[in-house]
Amino acid sequence: MGNNNESGHVMRAARRLAVGLVSAALLIGAAGPAAVADGGPTTLRAASRNLLIGTAVGLPQLDTDPTYSQILATQFDSVTPENAMKWDTTEPQPGVFNFAPADHIVAFAKDHGQRVRGHTLVWHSQLPSWVTNGNWTPDQLRDILRRHIMVEAGHFKGQVYAWDVVNEPLDDSAILRDTIFLQKLGPGYIADAFRWAHEAAPNAKLYINDYNVEGINAKSTAYYDLIKGLLAEGVPVSGFGIQGHLGIQYGFPDQIQANIQRFVDLGLEVSFTEVDVRMPLPVTEAKLATQADYYSRLLEPCLAVKGCVGFTVWGFTDKYSWATYFAGQGAATIYDENYNPKPAYWAVLADLAARGRR
Ligand code: G3I
Repeated sequence: MGNNNESGHVMRAARRLAVGLVSAALLIGAAGPAAVADGGPTTLRAASRNLLIGTAVGLPQLDTDPTYSQILATQFDSVTPENAMKWDTTEPQPGVFNFAPADHIVAFAKDHGQRVRGHTLVWHSQLPSWVTNGNWTPDQLRDILRRHIMVEAGHFKGQVYAWDVVNEPLDDSAILRDTIFLQKLGPGYIADAFRWAHEAAPNAKLYINDYNVEGINAKSTAYYDLIKGLLAEGVPVSGFGIQGHLGIQYGFPDQIQANIQRFVDLGLEVSFTEVDVRMPLPVTEAKLATQADYYSRLLEPCLAVKGCVGFTVWGFTDKYSWATYFAGQGAATIYDENYNPKPAYWAVLADLAARGRR
């Protein structure tokens, strides 16, 4: 396990020293990102080389908050609309499509030379009520699902380089989640969704995406088996998305590098798609240091495996992070609510700069 081995510890110790020095410099007001290393990269984007460093992007802050858009443009080379490509936004009424919010984010990305991850075509959450309450026959729901995927993936053809085609199809017991799609269409809806997405956007990478699958555990193993079966049937799955929503109070997952490697060995690419590390509030220096360590220990195994192609954080500032959803928790991102880079930012920058892509 690369993230537990001796060289990993040495790297982290060196990085912690660098982070400590930079933090100390910041405290005396003497340093910004340029202090990481003389002549070294000063943004995540510049440091990331062959790895796409990404972030979720929310509206309306993209338009209303110039600091937000400035950091977004300069620090990241991939963006994922946090909500704008979800079904409740893109098809709020049957057959009535609304791509304006997502088009706006895609245009921003294009203007700044950024790639776009599409999130998401099929999910049990953020479904409009007309889908969930429609009392559809299986044939009707199948047609609805097909139209939704074909129209949305078709609209963004050539603009979205990777789609989260099916999001969170397993539940916390590692069995198929009891969604309206499973109930009415059976497990074959997953294969169908990938085939339709491939038909609509043949060049896009097509992902299954979920949380609690960072390390080797029952859920990630269930995905391994599910995807192996889909590939054996010729279903065009090409990526496994590891969301990476962690909390420092829950401990750190085991065997991340081995987990990434086994999906890469199936012929897939792997990406971290929604990384954040929340903590019980209030924030302390010690919690921020643990948080920085968690970010590093997710990123390092990704950097160590060639097929791990992306590392996306689920928002970059605590000002807009979804993590406040958990009562008494938060501060999950790499910048605080005033856009000061946190130790986690420096840890990610130092890791990218030190390790890059082997
Ligand atoms: O846009 C409406 C606004 O008009 C309304 O006034 C307000 C009142 O509650 O709600 C707004 O919508 C909210 C939306 O975020 C935009 O802010 C929804 O209520 C809220 O439920 C929604 O939360 C999103 C959540 O997914 C929904 O499940 C979060 O922003 C988003 O970060 C989160 O992202 C998910 C990924 O898609 C999948 N993996 C887990 C991840 C975290 O839950």
